[in-house]
Amino acid sequence: FVYSLGGSILAGRDAQSLKEYAQALKELAKEHQIYVVVGGGRIAREYIEKARALGASEMFCDTIGIGATKLNSALLVAALGASAPQEIPDTYAQAARLAQPGKIVVMGGVAVGQTTDAVAALLAEYVHADKIIVATSVDGVYTADPEKDPTAKRLTRMTHQALARLAMETEMKAGSRSPVDPLAAKIIER
Ligand code: UTP
Repeated sequence: FVYSLGGSILAGRDAQSLKEYAQALKELAKEHQIYVVVGGGRIAREYIEKARALGASEMFCDTIGIGATKLNSALLVAALGASAPQEIPDTYAQAARLAQPGKIVVMGGVAVGQTTDAVAALLAEYVHADKIIVATSVDGVYTADPEKDPTAKRLTRMTHQALARLAMETEMKAGSRSPVDPLAAKIIER
């Protein structure tokens, strides 16, 4: 299984809570090979915002974002203790090499111009994963942003074509968030 874990899931958790989250992943790792791709969350957003205000290029901001995903990854590795290799892979091949029964491979971003959703989708493809699970701060895909629109309805099923369409349409609207980024949606579709 490949988990795309939004940075917002880890951010703000204290050590005890991180330990509990890690414990839940360890339980899953007893039955499945687990890979976790961790997002940048608040740290990424804050740093990118400041760098942008200072005139940094978008590509340089992506590099900062990747740094934040690796920082969050390192914290999850610390929480997992002996259940995770003490190494954050820079490539998909390195991630695959680190996989061992009972060990949870944790990684962050790898290349500019995308998000960790795309990393998770590509890693899932690379390791022939059975499942990709996208864990975020909302409990599912809605017809609109449930925090802003009270009429938003949760969708229980969705085809990969509809996901790709939604990701592309959402990308066009400033400030709105898609369940996964367009590249991830296209990888999942193929
Ligand atoms: P995230 O995957 O957390 O992006 O990576 P996001 O979707 O904007 O954030 P969430 O899901 O709401 O928490 C943070 C940033 O790091 C860079 C991008 O700039 C991204 O916005 N990044 C990440 C890359 O450039 N390449 C990667 O492979 C991963």
